[in-house]
Amino acid sequence: MEKEKESKKESGAGDLQLMERALELAARGRGTTSPNPMVGCVITDSEGAVVGEGWHEKAGQAHAEVRALEDLASRGKTGHTAYVTLEPCSHFGRTGPCCEALIRAGLKRVVVAMTDPNPLVAGRGVRRMEEAGIKVETGLCGSEAARLNEKFLTWITKRRPFISLKYAMTLDGKITTASRDSHFVTGPEAHRFSHGLRVEHDAILVGIGTILDDDSQLTARLAEGPNPLRIVLDSRGRIPLEAAVLKDDADTLLVTGEDVAPEKLAALERLPRVEVLRLPLAEGRIPLDRLMEELAERQVASVLVEGGSRVLGSFLDSGLADRVYAFIAPKLVGGEKALPAIGGRGIGRMADCAMVENPEFIPLGRDLLWTGRVVFNKKETVTEEKPSRNDSSGGEAAAEDGKERKDGPCLQD
Ligand SMILES: NC(=O)c1ccc[n+]([C@@H]2O[C@H](COP(=O)([O-])OP(=O)(O)OC[C@H]3O[C@@H](n4cnc5c(N)ncnc54)[C@H](OP(=O)(O)O)[C@@H]3O)[C@@H](O)[C@H]2O)c1
Repeated sequence: MEKEKESKKESGAGDLQLMERALELAARGRGTTSPNPMVGCVITDSEGAVVGEGWHEKAGQAHAEVRALEDLASRGKTGHTAYVTLEPCSHFGRTGPCCEALIRAGLKRVVVAMTDPNPLVAGRGVRRMEEAGIKVETGLCGSEAARLNEKFLTWITKRRPFISLKYAMTLDGKITTASRDSHFVTGPEAHRFSHGLRVEHDAILVGIGTILDDDSQLTARLAEGPNPLRIVLDSRGRIPLEAAVLKDDADTLLVTGEDVAPEKLAALERLPRVEVLRLPLAEGRIPLDRLMEELAERQVASVLVEGGSRVLGSFLDSGLADRVYAFIAPKLVGGEKALPAIGGRGIGRMADCAMVENPEFIPLGRDLLWTGRVVFNKKETVTEEKPSRNDSSGGEAAAEDGKERKDGPCLQD
């Protein structure tokens, strides 16, 4: 009865609203579908009323289209159009091909937000449905669908995890004071938000410097959802056996070089939920490209790199960054010895900097989260303007910027 009411209310909703609803459903799988994508599906009858809804909840479980068809069957209705946020699959994985299920259900039209770059699908789902006489349209809310599944899309196309760089810094760009105090840079809202980010990533990664200074636990205890894999880069095996990150609240992958003392290795390997991965070092450090390959093979589709300064620097220097999450606190600490958010070698010329595109700004209590996609090797054209006291163009530019963001890809968080 409740479902009937909802259907009537949504009757006549246009394609755009229906795809937005499918995206909303897809986002319910955040944190549980990896390495699969998040997918949502809405089915309408010939009058345009919603008669079936579903989303992919967890890898290994039914896909969104199958769930929506089950919902349709339970309501005893006949479907006409399906709105799906990602091309229906055409292969036999752990579940049957969804395009065949839609064909069998007798649907007349399928609207797909984006095609699936997974080589096992890559347009085959669309072709198969067209061959069966279904009218297929692709591209509606394509950029929103791509934003929602940016982690999956990177993992499947680049064969490495999606890499997010995350740090909490003061307004002068420091993540610690000169005496290495980094506690409570940001407030509780930012703290909670960052634990939500942990749930959305398959793994959190830090350097041994952070573990030695902070004894971080690296769990998502302030958020609802699974604890991600914890990864620590520790070339020489300096981690103390009693470190909080080695406790069994979550799995931990300790990445070391090949010269760690055998007794230390044995002691580490005896700890529950701890695995030691030994890699040949490159210039005395854990080789990040090799590690990313290894993680991709283990179906780790996304990594949240949480610091510290040296590790974040290594990722940026290696061109391994897809998104940045900079939590900025309205504080100034100063001090040459206070660590900058991102260390490493850095670059020589501003013209060679990495750009952060499609920025989104989220106020979190007194702090501000600044996030965007990292783009390397993009040449920016800079035009110099003479500053003027009465010049309000900075304000207008900012407003213009805000407008662009509103029209741009929507943040699904
Ligand atoms: N505010 C924040 O958001 C935030 C977040 C995290 C950390 N922090 C602070 O940052 C400080 C730690 O930063 P840090 O720069 O000293 O240490 P770090 O980045 O946490 O760890 C650096 C160490 O990791 C090891 N490592 C192994 N492979 C590496 C690679 N490929 N690239 C870089 N490092 C690699 C190296 O030690 P080995 O050679 O011994 O392996 C290196 O010295 C702490 O005080 C912590 O409180 C702040």
